[in-house]
Amino acid sequence: MRGSQRDFIHQLVLIINPLPQSRDEYEAKRREKRKVNKGRAKERLANEIALAEEAGDEDKIKELRMGKRRRRNRKPPEQGALRVGFDCQFEHLMSEREVISVGRQVQCCYHHNQEFQKQCWMMLSSFGGDLQNRLEKANYKHWPGVVANPNRFDQAFKKEDVVYLTAESENTLEEIDQSKLYMIGAIVDRNREKGLCHQLATDASVQTARLPISEHMEMSTRVVITIDQVFQIVLQLYNGATMTEALAAAMPVRKGWEMKEDGEEAAQKETVDQDSAAEPKLKGATEQHNAEQDSASQGGATAEEKEASS
Ligand SMILES: C[S@@+](CC[C@H](N)C(=O)[O-])C[C@H]1O[C@@H](n2cnc3c(N)ncnc32)[C@H](O)[C@@H]1O
Repeated sequence: MRGSQRDFIHQLVLIINPLPQSRDEYEAKRREKRKVNKGRAKERLANEIALAEEAGDEDKIKELRMGKRRRRNRKPPEQGALRVGFDCQFEHLMSEREVISVGRQVQCCYHHNQEFQKQCWMMLSSFGGDLQNRLEKANYKHWPGVVANPNRFDQAFKKEDVVYLTAESENTLEEIDQSKLYMIGAIVDRNREKGLCHQLATDASVQTARLPISEHMEMSTRVVITIDQVFQIVLQLYNGATMTEALAAAMPVRKGWEMKEDGEEAAQKETVDQDSAAEPKLKGATEQHNAEQDSASQGGATAEEKEASS
């Protein structure tokens, strides 16, 4: 999508859904959206229970009735588990709304992580400022598996362990190496800071890798994706998904993608995953993602803004 088209869509979105004028209006909108999302989640759960009842799947019914919170795995990841880093040094480059969006995406990542059988350590570097204040309100200190460090990634971690994920890298991520720490830039910049993370990683002499999105998908939009999508893809791969499966599970249908030839099966599977039941390993995070991406967009960005924000 060209810049002018994106601006036009952005304007259109603002006309249909104008930005709140005041904090109160913003909070009211947020509460309203939460209510709608809660209603949808309830409906979805009722549908899932009905399907499980039809199939006579007692275990599933019990699990669904226990509720999402208790189904989540609240134990910390294993000692030698994969580490995924969040480089939080970009606050000065973002508006308040963008910092809020980063906070929500990190929160979503924490929830996604709990949905997977194999969880990773979430390592926050350059952690501080407004992002820290926001995550403190969300009680991040009690989140198992989240480790915060005020130092920059190249001081906080062994440089030889770090692989910075950047869309501009010449290297392609083919598989997950558990001994590495995969770094994600915790930034929402609506593409203002093109190539910034790649430049920082190169200057710090750490390895970089891009996700092979264009190799697997026909995209109508750019291949810079959001923090939580990147996180989900890494987690899917870590949990044994193929690259096609991982991309299909993490990329929202509204991005307008299609799988390339050998990925068609997975694209179809994704449609099924999002509509009804599928493998829990792939499904859990996708569902969570869709529900939470909507909630993440409330204070940060609309669907279109969010797309533009990556
Ligand atoms: C919204 S993007 C930020 C884009 C930013 N302009 C930059 O310089 O990277 C957030 C982060 O997701 C990761 N990311 C996004 N798309 C990616 C891709 N196609 N391959 C690898 N990493 C990607 C990068 O770590 C990036 O910093």
